[in-house]
Amino acid sequence: MIPAEDLQCLKAIALGGGCRGPVFVSTQSIGEMLAISQQTASRRLKGLETQGFITRTMAADGQHVTLTRHGEEELRKEFQDYCRIFSDHTKGYTLSGTVVSGIGEGKYYMSLPAYKEQFNTHLGFVPYPGTLNIRLSPASVPVRKKIDALNWVRIKGFSTDGRTFGDARCLPCRIGDISCGIVVPGRTHYPEDIIEVIAPIALRRRLGVGDTDNVSVEVGQ
Ligand code: CDP
Repeated sequence: MIPAEDLQCLKAIALGGGCRGPVFVSTQSIGEMLAISQQTASRRLKGLETQGFITRTMAADGQHVTLTRHGEEELRKEFQDYCRIFSDHTKGYTLSGTVVSGIGEGKYYMSLPAYKEQFNTHLGFVPYPGTLNIRLSPASVPVRKKIDALNWVRIKGFSTDGRTFGDARCLPCRIGDISCGIVVPGRTHYPEDIIEVIAPIALRRRLGVGDTDNVSVEVGQ
């Protein structure tokens, strides 16, 4: 792998246009850009030439520098790494925690037809009546915050029989190979270390888990 300082230098030349054709640089300008001495800048340019990353022609007060294809490829590799780091398509998150019991509210809400229909539309399954509550491990709490930025589906609130039911949001996820959804009610105070998961089937039974057992939820990818 090319040393980081060589890569920085290649990047500085490329930013000046060095991938398209010769750019004029002086050891002073490169030195200033990279916060290194002129002597170090001079050595670095020489090194890049020896390794075949740039070609140079000397002028009286500086040099004309062009990146070779080899040099450009090194920068492109770096670019691809950043694409992988920042691309939404390759982002996968794992949330781990233990099964906990709630107060039996999930069963009630998940039995309401207006919610059931919306989950079916957005997730592609009618949820088993209930939510599996998972208390996240401390390491998964920051992950829970990160997934807030993903594309959640809005589940609209409604009124029926004189009662109002609030909005919620939902994010597709998986437990093993079971398609599930994380549901967050619209309530303002909601514990950040608990997630509620819905699925087409009874998860406790299928996974053979009970309170305090470990479960991992995969989001994305
Ligand atoms: O609130 P609480 O956890 O007590 O229960 P609930 O949401 O009313 O759900 C009823 C039961 O089904 C709970 O024991 C859930 O953990 C469980 N459940 C399940 O096994 N699989 C699902 N897909 C949803 C809920």
